[in-house]
Amino acid sequence: MLDLLKLQPGMHILDVGCGAGKQCFSYYSYLKGQAEITGGDVSQDLLGQARQEKVKRDAKINFIDLNFNQRFPLEDNQFDLASCCFAIYYAENVPLRSARCTGCQNRAGWPCSWIYDAEGNE
Ligand SMILES: C[S@@+](CC[C@H](N)C(=O)[O-])C[C@H]1O[C@@H](n2cnc3c(N)ncnc32)[C@H](O)[C@@H]1O
Repeated sequence: MLDLLKLQPGMHILDVGCGAGKQCFSYYSYLKGQAEITGGDVSQDLLGQARQEKVKRDAKINFIDLNFNQRFPLEDNQFDLASCCFAIYYAENVPLRSARCTGCQNRAGWPCSWIYDAEGNE
């Protein structure tokens, strides 16, 4: 799955609805830490778990408060890849949320993708 994303060193990656950080840590390991990775979630509990794991692994990943039903607390055009795994179905308006996210987070020259679950949901 990670090969499909064509991850490259130096990428700026945003994981929306990161939970305890599973995908963030996967990207980080795959790229051997050569990436700027941000994970955002609305759950303080899960963000706390992600931050604990980050310390345990000595990983440089930024975990932030982010509610995908609101404008992201991020500048436009910062990210090469935006993923959302097993979470977008919690959004109030999925097409609107995904369009806004992909539209505002993509840096020129890199793909910006949402990840689909096994049932084809974004
Ligand atoms: C099934 S979990 C998936 C977590 C992680 N992506 C994974 O695969 O382990 C769904 C996640 O969506 C988050 N979530 C739900 N509503 C959200 C919202 N409005 N904004 C941001 N995250 C949200 C939950 O807190 C939870 O971490």
